[in-house]
Amino acid sequence: MKKIGIITSGGDAPGMNACVRAIVKFCLNKNIVPVGFRDGYKGVIENDFCNLTFKDVNNIVQQGGTILGTYRSEEFKTVEGRQKAIANLTKNDIDAFICIGGDGTFTGASILSQEMNIPVIGIPGTIDNDIFGTDHTIGYDTALNTVVEAVDRIRDTAGSHKRIFFVEVMGRNAGFIALNSAIASGAESVLIPEEVTDIKEVANDLKRQNKGARSSIVIVAEGDDEGGAKEILSKIKPYMEGYSMRYSILGHIQRGGRPSAFDRMLATRMGAFAVESLLNGISNVMIGAKGDQLLTLSIHEATHNLAKPDMSKLEVLHNLRTSN
Ligand code: F6P
Repeated sequence: MKKIGIITSGGDAPGMNACVRAIVKFCLNKNIVPVGFRDGYKGVIENDFCNLTFKDVNNIVQQGGTILGTYRSEEFKTVEGRQKAIANLTKNDIDAFICIGGDGTFTGASILSQEMNIPVIGIPGTIDNDIFGTDHTIGYDTALNTVVEAVDRIRDTAGSHKRIFFVEVMGRNAGFIALNSAIASGAESVLIPEEVTDIKEVANDLKRQNKGARSSIVIVAEGDDEGGAKEILSKIKPYMEGYSMRYSILGHIQRGGRPSAFDRMLATRMGAFAVESLLNGISNVMIGAKGDQLLTLSIHEATHNLAKPDMSKLEVLHNLRTSN
C-alpha cells in the first residue's frame, strides 16, 4: 500500500482534525503517502488534493472544524460524478480510501468500493451520534458539552425572568444530543424524534413542573415530529396562558469549538486503527467503539441499521418529574 486517500465529509465535527492528524502521521511512519482531498467527495470529483506532510498536521489536534474542508456533494450521488471521482483516484494511484463522516458519507464510500473495487474504511464523525454500531462518534461529546454549557446559561436568565424556555438542539433524525443534554442540564422535559410528541400533554406536564419553580427548560431535538423549538412554542401557547415563554435555537455553535479530551482521544485512536486495519487487509468496514474498545463492522451493517438512543434514559427524566 503506497497511497491512501482521505476525506472529511458531511457536517464537520470537533475532533475530525485529530483524526486526520493520526491518519497522516501513522501513514508517513509506514512510508505511505497520505493524500488529502479537499471538501469531501467534491475534491475527489474535481481532483483537488494535496499530499499531506507532518507539517500540515502539526498543532491541529486541538482545532475544531476540518483542515481538509467538507461538503455535502450531490454530484457524487450520480453515476457521472462517481465516474469522475474513480478516474481521479485511479490517475493518482490511490490504493485505499479513508472517509471521516456520517451515514451519507459511508453510503457513498460503500458504492465507491463496489464500483471501483478499492479498499475503503469509514470513521464515524458527526455530532449527532446517529451511527449504528458505535457507542461514540467523533464530535458528539464536544457538542454535548457545548449544549450543556449553553443551557446552563439559559437557565440563569430563565430563572431571573421566571420563564419557560424551549431550547432547540441539533439532531435531524436522532435524539442523542437532546436526550443526554436534557439529563445533564437538569431540563424539565425533552422532545425527541424517537417519541411521538403530544403538545397538550407537554403543556400539562410543564404546568405541573413549573409550579413553585422560577424556570423550566424543555430541550427540543430539531427533528421532533411537532417541529423545532419555534413551532413547539407557538403550538403550546394556547394551552399556556399567563406563562412567559421564549425559544432559543442553539444552531451551528454546536458544531464548532475545540474538541473535548474524549473526542481527541477517540479520533486519534480511530484514525490510527483505520490505517492499521487497512495494513492488515481489512476493508469495507467502519471503525466503531464499544465502551473503550475499538472494533470494525461492515459498512453495510452500519448504514442499513438505525442508531437509537438508550430510551431507558427517558425514564430517568420521567422519574425525576414533579408528579402533582
Ligand atoms: O452534521 C449533522 C448536523 O449538524 C445535523 O445535526 C444538522 O441537522 C445538520 O448537520 C445541519 O447541516 P447543515 O450545516 O448542512 O445545514
